[in-house]
Amino acid sequence: MANNVVVVGAGVLGLSTALVLSKHKNLNITVVAKHMPGDYDIEYASPWAGANYFPVGKPGSSLQRFEKATWGELDRICREIPEAGIHHQVTRVYGRKKDAGTATAQWFEELTKEDAWFKNVVPNFRVLPKSELPPECDTGTEFTSVCINTAVYLPWILGQCVKAGVTIKRGILSHISEAGSFHSSGQADAVVNCTGLLASKLGGVMDNNVYPGRGQIVLVRNEPGVMVTVSGTDDGSEEATYIMQRAVGGGTILGGCLQHNSWESQPDPNLAQRIMQRSIELCPSLAPTGKVTELSVIRHGVGLRPMRMGGPRVEKEMIDGTWVVHAYGHAGYGYQSGWGSAWEAERLVLSIVGQGEVRAKL
Ligand SMILES: Cc1cc2nc3c(=O)[nH]c(=O)nc-3n(C[C@H](O)[C@H](O)[C@H](O)COP(=O)(O)OP(=O)(O)OC[C@H]3O[C@@H](n4cnc5c(N)ncnc54)[C@H](O)[C@@H]3O)c2cc1C
Ligand SMILES: *[C@@H]1O[C@H](CO)[C@@H](O)[C@H](O)[C@H]1NC(C)=O
Ligand SMILES: *[C@@H]1O[C@H](CO)[C@@H](O)[C@H](O)[C@H]1NC(C)=O
Repeated sequence: MANNVVVVGAGVLGLSTALVLSKHKNLNITVVAKHMPGDYDIEYASPWAGANYFPVGKPGSSLQRFEKATWGELDRICREIPEAGIHHQVTRVYGRKKDAGTATAQWFEELTKEDAWFKNVVPNFRVLPKSELPPECDTGTEFTSVCINTAVYLPWILGQCVKAGVTIKRGILSHISEAGSFHSSGQADAVVNCTGLLASKLGGVMDNNVYPGRGQIVLVRNEPGVMVTVSGTDDGSEEATYIMQRAVGGGTILGGCLQHNSWESQPDPNLAQRIMQRSIELCPSLAPTGKVTELSVIRHGVGLRPMRMGGPRVEKEMIDGTWVVHAYGHAGYGYQSGWGSAWEAERLVLSIVGQGEVRAKL
């Protein structure tokens, strides 16, 4: 007897989790979502991400565990599956002493450490000597990371799911009790809740710890030659500067900001101007004449990170007689922690449907 699983959500978490689960041939999986790859909507965070691997989890946290576990899979996809839209990037992370205590410096606290916990996770990690730092910066590291073209990566994971027999459906759930009706069998033995920011808004018990962390980006055609970020800016504590070139012609993402509790979906033109100005200052190779007008803009964008006080929630809960595995609240790190989180959700689903039975069929 197959066990019927409904995954709610088709962002990077829902799709990665469905793909991991699809390896178990006794699971019959349906993904149901309001938004799908190809959509650009303020309620759907995944397409707006850079996205890169910039670890920020605190040592000992589950986020750190997920980030550590995710590197190997991103690296493998990079090497073996070029059509997935990920490539390696030489990466530089700078720190400025004057940013200490600001919101952005706190967000990047682990990332900007010279003695970073991930120095043996990513390859080619080295501390930069003063002579290699930009004038305003006090510390710096270099390592090899990855940048993901989300417009290619999300459809790639979706396609892998379809190939593995997963059913994909459009739908909006207003309550967990409706999940079964979206499954092709009409019934669900387990539901995986990958609803991102909407976990704060929809159905049954709302999670009040979930809130938006607004990010604004500019996508340009110019090539930076390096992936780079810094611990803060002189434009206010919620602003940030990061630059990354997406794989396979995806353009270059210039960021950004992390504005807590803002639901504003429209790009702020003044902020866009500041982002572009800071980007060419941090990375002069983007615009050799030093003028913002040299940037060739593809689009301005706004995404809302699904922030969660206490970090991502990946745990199981019985709701009204149905087992739910939650996997939401991945804030600004859904890609860099996505596979680790998916493997944890897999462990929880298997514990619900009876691991012994599953093992026997592997
Ligand atoms: C500007 C920006 C830059 C970022 N950069 C990075 C980065 O460099 N690296 C990184 O790792 N992360 C980055 N992130 C974070 C990353 O984008 C998120 O962590 C990730 O996309 C969250 O994915 P998710 O699947 O949880 O949510 P989402 O992508 O929002 O997907 C939620 C899904 O659930 C569905 N859904 C919700 N409620 C319901 C319902 N009731 N019924 C049916 N369907 C429902 C939605 O339709 C959607 O399909 C960035 C984010 C932003 C905004
Ligand atoms: C899943 O279950 C449905 C309905 O019971 C069935 O039609 C479908 O073929 C099953 N899919 C797989 C991949 O087994
Ligand atoms: C997902 O979790 C949130 C928070 O607990 C809850 O409000 C929502 O009903 C859940 N949705 C589904 C489909 O399980």
